[in-house]
Amino acid sequence: MLVSSSQRLTFSTEDAAAQTVADLILATIRDIAEPVLGLATGATMEPVYGHLVAAYKRGDVSFARCTTFNLDEYVGLPAEHPGSYRSTMNNLFFDHVDIDKSRTFLPDALQDPTDVIGEVYERKIEEAGGIDLQLLGIGRNGHIGFNEPGSAKDSRTRLVELHAETLEANARFFTDRPVPAYAVTMGIGTILAARQIVVLATGSGKADAVFHATNGNFDPACPASALLEHCNVKWVLDTAAARLKSAA
Ligand code: GLP
Repeated sequence: MLVSSSQRLTFSTEDAAAQTVADLILATIRDIAEPVLGLATGATMEPVYGHLVAAYKRGDVSFARCTTFNLDEYVGLPAEHPGSYRSTMNNLFFDHVDIDKSRTFLPDALQDPTDVIGEVYERKIEEAGGIDLQLLGIGRNGHIGFNEPGSAKDSRTRLVELHAETLEANARFFTDRPVPAYAVTMGIGTILAARQIVVLATGSGKADAVFHATNGNFDPACPASALLEHCNVKWVLDTAAARLKSAA
């Protein structure tokens, strides 16, 4: 059954969309005593973290009360590799604000055996009280986190193999080696358990995925379409990503 009450907010520039997402995160931090944020990576998110850091530098916010869980991490990359999502988050956000780094979590993709990583991560999220706001980008093929097409709607944090399209799209972040072929990602079910979801999509390259995700029912070929079944989702778009009309 569809219980979707998604909201679609469209802005004329990428930056206005990113500012709106940053404002939604700041509002959550102001409203909740111990906010738990689900964070995302990808080039789309860079201006969001820029706005959050700027708000901190202006003295408008403290991140000291926050706990964060990132969606995903590559397998087999040392944390200090510039392509790892740990490095990315440190460089873009954590190193510039007053967050307690011991409460910033990413799947521990160096842990072995890999099949326990998911359980450990799910337990940590549960112990933190669940995710108040999950930030999401979307892949051109409709992936969320690293849940590639074909992922089950009730999937949980697990090891996944990345599709060729995703490896190609993310090659721009790796200069010294190929993109790792495996990652650990929160599942679609993990994402749907968040109390609020904010998706940011900008640029015409995302228009097809946004259309597919918001126009119809859940289609395993477009993992983001699972969001139709969540009761509190905001799609924040620029006009290029929103150019195909949908029902959202
Ligand atoms: C990666 C991340 C996703 C992200 C996607 C889109 O695959 N795992 O969480 O949404 O890239 O990234 P970009 O914003 O660079 O297009």
